Amino acid sequence: KPRLYSGMQPSADSLQIGNYIGALLNWKALQQTHDAYFSIVDLHALTVAQDPAALRENTRRTAAQYIASGIDPSASTLYVQSHVDAHAQLAWVLNTITGFGEASRMTQFKDKSAKQGSDGTTVGLFAYPILMAADILLYDTVVVPVGEDQRQHVELTRDIAARFNSRFGDTFVIPEADIVKETAKIFDLQNPLSKMSKSAESHAGVIWLLDEPAVTAKKIMRAVTDADGGVVFDRENKPGVANLLTIYSTMAGRSIQSLEDEYAGRGYGDLKKGLAEVVTGTFGPIRARVLELLGDPAELDRLLADNADRAAGVANATLARAFDRVGLLPRA
Ligand code: TYM
Repeated sequence: KPRLYSGMQPSADSLQIGNYIGALLNWKALQQTHDAYFSIVDLHALTVAQDPAALRENTRRTAAQYIASGIDPSASTLYVQSHVDAHAQLAWVLNTITGFGEASRMTQFKDKSAKQGSDGTTVGLFAYPILMAADILLYDTVVVPVGEDQRQHVELTRDIAARFNSRFGDTFVIPEADIVKETAKIFDLQNPLSKMSKSAESHAGVIWLLDEPAVTAKKIMRAVTDADGGVVFDRENKPGVANLLTIYSTMAGRSIQSLEDEYAGRGYGDLKKGLAEVVTGTFGPIRARVLELLGDPAELDRLLADNADRAAGVANATLARAFDRVGLLPRA
């Protein structure tokens, strides 16, 4: 089976619906046909200030949300990034072959650092995509299923891998991003021109996996639409409605056309009511399962430890290969 790798940051106490639609749903489907590795990238989360106790807890919560959403920890390898030493170690080597200018061109870094000012912006934030490259390359990954915002980071990973291979000899597999066009970018319900994000300033337009159903329904009913009134998919002129239709269509497994037909001549209120039912119907059971898993943290931690052992087996072999190629003296 081809190797697959992806991950998410445990940077909030719940994932948001963009993570679910843009990533988790694809992971769940692809784990059937791939040898899949899914990490909770806690080292990446450290690139912005975290409360230590919250980070620990959010790491467990993220693992529980992967499992509750359908990632099977016996078929796939689901682990915590910091539990496998090789990630930080390979990242260091890759830092030394990445150009300063090259890393400076990452748009996510430019956006985040602009918001935080030069003292708030850490060297870790700058090196973030290079750690991500290490994640991917350690597993001889072929496929990287992500949302649109990670495309540039996967491109950088390819460039770094190719450079390493040409300088030191064939070492890394060159991976490819797998981005599903229709769902690659879910937008904020209050601002349908900007990406929904765990780190959004206002949470009014963010749907959290673990929100109470009533809260989710209320946010959907208040979603920004337009004055036109027609339930038609038109990304350009009706971004709010197009976003709701995208979410509805993926969550319900129905075509946009069938939704346009069903809601033709009816108001946005009906569309939103229908969507709220579908979302809470899906997230309700996931939420219940998450709470159940979190009820036995020792069991969850044990499972993560087993999976980390499995991951380390693969990662350490690649790391040894890379260390050898660049000329680090092996420890006797
Ligand atoms: P993160 O934690 O920001 O997001 C996790 C995944 O969710 C996708 N995503 C979205 N998709 C559609 N619409 C949205 N509004 C939306 N918001 C987030 C992201 O594209 C991503 O697939 N750097 C990564 C984590 C990472 C990683 C890796 C991914 C670290 N190492 C190796 C792949 C392979 C990140 O911060 O994702």
